[in-house]
Amino acid sequence: MSVKTVATRPFAGQKPGTSGLRKKVKVFSQPGYLENFVQSIFDTLNGQQGQTLVLGGDGRYFNDVAIQIILRMAAAAGFGRVLVGQGGILSTPAASAVIRKRAAFGGIILSASHNPGGVEGDFGIKYNLANGGPANETFTDAVYQRTQGITEYRYVEADDIDLSRLGETRIGAMTVEVIDPVADYAELLESLFDFERIAALLARPGFRMRFDAMHAVTGPYAKALLERRLGAPAGTVVNGTPLADFGGGHPDPNPVYAADLVNAMADPGLGLSFGAASDGDGDRNMIVGSNFIVSPSDSLAILTANYSLIPAYAKGLAGVARSMPTSCAVDRVAADFGIPCFETPTGWKFFGSLLDAGKATLCGEESSGTGSNHVREKDGLWAVLYWLNILAARNESVEQIVRAHWQKYGRNVYSRHDYEGVESAKAEAMFTALRGKLPTLAGQTIGGMRVRMADDFSYTDPVDGARSEHQGVRILLEDGSRVVFRLSGTGTEGATIRLYLERYVADPAQHSVPTQQALAPLIALAESVAQITATTGRTKPDVIS
Ligand code: G6P
Ligand code: ZN
Repeated sequence: MSVKTVATRPFAGQKPGTSGLRKKVKVFSQPGYLENFVQSIFDTLNGQQGQTLVLGGDGRYFNDVAIQIILRMAAAAGFGRVLVGQGGILSTPAASAVIRKRAAFGGIILSASHNPGGVEGDFGIKYNLANGGPANETFTDAVYQRTQGITEYRYVEADDIDLSRLGETRIGAMTVEVIDPVADYAELLESLFDFERIAALLARPGFRMRFDAMHAVTGPYAKALLERRLGAPAGTVVNGTPLADFGGGHPDPNPVYAADLVNAMADPGLGLSFGAASDGDGDRNMIVGSNFIVSPSDSLAILTANYSLIPAYAKGLAGVARSMPTSCAVDRVAADFGIPCFETPTGWKFFGSLLDAGKATLCGEESSGTGSNHVREKDGLWAVLYWLNILAARNESVEQIVRAHWQKYGRNVYSRHDYEGVESAKAEAMFTALRGKLPTLAGQTIGGMRVRMADDFSYTDPVDGARSEHQGVRILLEDGSRVVFRLSGTGTEGATIRLYLERYVADPAQHSVPTQQALAPLIALAESVAQITATTGRTKPDVIS
């Protein structure tokens, strides 16, 4: 076996964000760019000799090229075996499931999640640990440090591996095993839910479902689970073939980018009762009823409230966790059940230690992610099956279930406003000014609302004590409403400012007031405190979800 060593020089900016390193394909395809980052990961690891690595991605442009490069480098790094998804495909939750089931040392997932793909689009890479979850900040910081001092990378010379055929081949001393990307994952999901009951629901004459895979990775998974194992009619899964450029679309399941699904669900002629979509790498979800969109924060609360209907969770929940900007709807359910509710910074990696320690069973985020302790990533199809299981057991529509939930717990009216592609300097200036105001806000009355507390969220992990600062500016009002500001950690162009708005409405007579109308006073307060328009020149958000 001949290991080649190539001299290299650091690239600036190889700093992983909320979820791994994401850059334009143009940036990633520069000679040595991917290699430097992968070598920095391998140099940061300890003890991988002879161990198993899981490798796969969401099928986006450059996935295939990157996989061949990483395979040769993994051989030089001493891995004994790499499990790679057939065709280079592994959704993020499936990668997590395989890492856990096969007791792998870790995994590399190639994805920029919900960001557009294609030659002009984005690419991304992240490392997951043996628990199946994203590496923590200590690890990603160490990788970044390494990228800034790297002088060489190593690979084993070998031909490209044929990823289309299942089975084993070798690169030097390392075995490459091409695995079915769906099997382990589908089996795991089948063990959690009542498949018989769901199959009966899908066979009911009046029930019709649509799953929009957005030309991204979940197509093969959804077809296997919904159409083959559960017997939904062929065609239930739409846009189900993964394309390298996601058909030119933006594979983010929100009302703007999944407008086709939302429109179909509002079309009485189609008679659809349940709709769902997932993102580029299969970890996000959107749930839609007939002409009714479920907000992700409400979804987490409703999944929690209905745990007893799901075989895997019926014995009880240890606790729940949500990210700070996610609405407090789930807090009310947790309080009702007398279980702990953890508030973490944005990013699934923060849930990992809670799940590992058995402190939380279900987790979720406003950014369309929900999941449980079955893997260590959020899981789009898991959420879809969980909802189907609830629908099958309760025999009510999506809207009836949500409205009944609000009736019982009150409604946490919620919205997120995104200002995308803002000039970074302007966004920074806005946050600097906003942070400067924080010490004086408490006690002030703005637009008739009194500020109870204002801070920059920080978090101490209750398990390992790790501290994370500057995780988002929050303004908490006396009536329980909240306004939160964050800079996105997943974009690749300029800065994206996120404004999260939440107001608690107990009175059922007010539950049907349109969301933006109900939140109008908070929107005005946010503008007056943060001066978004004055600083950035933007008069309205690009995406409202
Ligand atoms: C990724 C992470 C999520 C996180 C989201 C936030 O999807 O996996 O856990 O909520 O990014 O993205 P943002 O763009 O708001 O930093
Ligand atoms: Zn994703």
